[in-house]
Amino acid sequence: MMMIMTSNEFRDGLAGVPAAKSRVSHVDGEKGILEYRGIRIEELAEKSSFIETAYLLIWGKLPTQEELEDFETEIRYHRRIKYHIRDMMKCFPGTGHPMDALQTSAAALGLFYSRRALDNPNYIRAAVVRLLAKIPTMVAAFHMIRKGNDPIQPNDDLNYAANFLYMLTERRPDPLAAQIFDVCLTLHAEHTMNASTFSARVTASTLTDPYAVIASAVGTLAGPLHGGANEEVLNMLEEIGSVENVRPYVERCLANKQKIMGFGHRVYKVKDPRATILQDLAEQLFAKMGHDEYYDVAVELENVVEEYIGREKGIYPNVDFYSGLLYRKLGIPADLFTPIFAIARVAGWLAHWKEQLTVNKIYRPTQIYVGDHNLAYIPMAERVVDRDPGTVSA
Ligand code: ACO
Repeated sequence: MMMIMTSNEFRDGLAGVPAAKSRVSHVDGEKGILEYRGIRIEELAEKSSFIETAYLLIWGKLPTQEELEDFETEIRYHRRIKYHIRDMMKCFPGTGHPMDALQTSAAALGLFYSRRALDNPNYIRAAVVRLLAKIPTMVAAFHMIRKGNDPIQPNDDLNYAANFLYMLTERRPDPLAAQIFDVCLTLHAEHTMNASTFSARVTASTLTDPYAVIASAVGTLAGPLHGGANEEVLNMLEEIGSVENVRPYVERCLANKQKIMGFGHRVYKVKDPRATILQDLAEQLFAKMGHDEYYDVAVELENVVEEYIGREKGIYPNVDFYSGLLYRKLGIPADLFTPIFAIARVAGWLAHWKEQLTVNKIYRPTQIYVGDHNLAYIPMAERVVDRDPGTVSA
C-alpha cells in the first residue's frame, strides 16, 4: 500500500527522520556515547588501529590476527595510483580545493576498475581495499603536484597513518605523531546517518559502482555545513589571539547571535566524546613537540562557553574543536583538514555501502509539490525579463 505524506509530516532536511536501519554505529547524544559496531569509541581509540577499525566497521566484526595482517598487506600493496591518475591531477588548477580534486579522482578510479560485480565478494573486497589504499595517496599526490613537485611514492615500510604523513613531506614522521594521527582517523571513521553517509547510501541504492558512491559522499562532505569547521576554529582562535580576549569575544558573539565555531552539535548535548579524546591527544602532542599558545585560548574558550551557555543549552566542544590545533602541530595545511576527514570517513561510507547492498531498495522519497498548475504557454515575443539572469565569464 502506498503511503501518502501530508504536509504536516514534512520536516526540513529530513531532520529526525530515520533513513535506514543500520548496525554500523550508534550515538547517544544525551550521554555522550559513540559506538562502532557496539564498541565504545574510547576503547577503539585506546586499543585499536584505524585499519582494524575499518575492518570492524566494514565486515561487522573484529578481525583475527591473520585477517588483520592480510587486510593490511592488501592495502599496502594497492597504495600506488596509476600514472594516468597522476597525469590527470597535473591538469587540475593548483588553486583548486583539494576536496574537489579528491572527488574527481575518486570518481576517476571507476574508469580503471569498471567491472561491476556487486554480488561477488571478491569484487567487494577489491573495491574496499583499493578505496582505503588509494584515497590517501590521491590526497597527498594532489598536494605535491599543486606545489609543483612530483608525488611522493607510498613507503611500504610505514603503516597507514605514518605513510600518509610521509607522502606529505617525504620525511618519516615522529612515531608519536603517527600514532596520534592514526587515532584521529579512527575517531573520524564513522558517525551514523549524516549528509555524506546518506548521500553514499542513496548512490549505493542505485547499484552503481563503489567509486561513484565514495565520490558522491566526498562531494557532500565538502560543503561548509558538514566538513571543514575545524579550519574555521583555527581562524577563530587566531582572531581571539590571547586568553584575556576570550571573555569579551564570547560576549560579543552571544550579543550578535553569532555561532562560536567548534561548539554545539545536532545530536550531542554534552561534550562530544571525540573532542575529549582529541584534547587528550593534543596535550600529549604538545608535550612532545612544543606547546601551542592557542591551546590555552581554546581551553579558556571551552570554560567561558560552558559558563555562559553550555549547561543551559547543551553547547559543548564538538569533534572539530581540537582537531585543527592537532593537525596544525603535525604540519598539515589547513585546506587538507577536510580531505583527511574524508580519508577516515571512507571506512564508514564503505560500511554503509556494503550494508545498503544487503538490504537494498532504491531510495525514492516523495515531495510536496508547491508550484503552479495549468499555466498558459507564453509565446517568446510576449515574455518579459523579470530578474537578472547573471553572467558567466569564459
Ligand atoms: N555558539 C553559540 N551558540 C550556539 C552554538 C554555537 N556554536 N551552537 C548552538 N548555539 C545555540 C543557538 O544559537 C541556539 O540558541 P537559541 O535556542 O537561543 O536560539 C541553541 O544553541 C540551539 O542551536 P541550534 O542551531 O538549534 O543547534 P543545532 O543542533 O541546529 O546546530 C550546529 C548544531 C549546526 C553544529 C551548531 O551548533 C553550529 O553551527 N555550531 C558551530 C559550527 C560547528 O562547529 N560545526 C561542526 C559541527 S560537528 C560536524 O559537523 C562534524
